[in-house]
Amino acid sequence: MKIMKTIRILSWSAVLILGVLIIGFGSSAFNKQNLSTATSTTGLPASSIVPPFALTTHTGVVFTDAALVGKPYLAFFGFTHCTDVCPTTLIELTSLMEELGEDANRLTPLFITVDPERDSQKTLAEYMPAFDRRIIALRGTPDQTQIAIKAFKAYSKKVPVDDGYTMDHTAVVFLVGADGRFAGTLDMHEPLEMRLAKLRRLVRAEP
Ligand code: NI
Repeated sequence: MKIMKTIRILSWSAVLILGVLIIGFGSSAFNKQNLSTATSTTGLPASSIVPPFALTTHTGVVFTDAALVGKPYLAFFGFTHCTDVCPTTLIELTSLMEELGEDANRLTPLFITVDPERDSQKTLAEYMPAFDRRIIALRGTPDQTQIAIKAFKAYSKKVPVDDGYTMDHTAVVFLVGADGRFAGTLDMHEPLEMRLAKLRRLVRAEP
């Protein structure tokens, strides 16, 4: 009888442990899924007008959405301390601008910092010459930065790390037409030809 009782206790324990494992795995998978949905669904609904924003360029010029009237542009949110997504995206944008040839002259790419605390105008001015000179880096006060992030329904979050903090942020590039309307996103994982086609369509569309 004692043996039977022990076996019963052991098997119930096994069931209990298995249950905890399944629930644990399930919720971590759920969290992961939530996170990827949260970052991939950022961006305004198609064709909506981008709300006003006001920032300052890396050369110290006040820059608002008014400067973009009638011009197709790209908006990318990031920060100079980023070690992967930001430099990679800026390098990709640099080569896309080259591939676009003449069309690139009608396009204004913006790199908006989500980390104005560390990205001073001077930091941005030193960072930008590594990329296409037509890319304009923008920063604002914390409030102006939040307004710009919300204007595009982008995402950014300060995340503490051992030696300070890093910034989680939207990795896609937002496309805005000459009509000031949100025209989709550019993902650097898409094939080059698809990205070029999107940019050519954006540039060549009549306002
Ligand atoms: Ni980044």
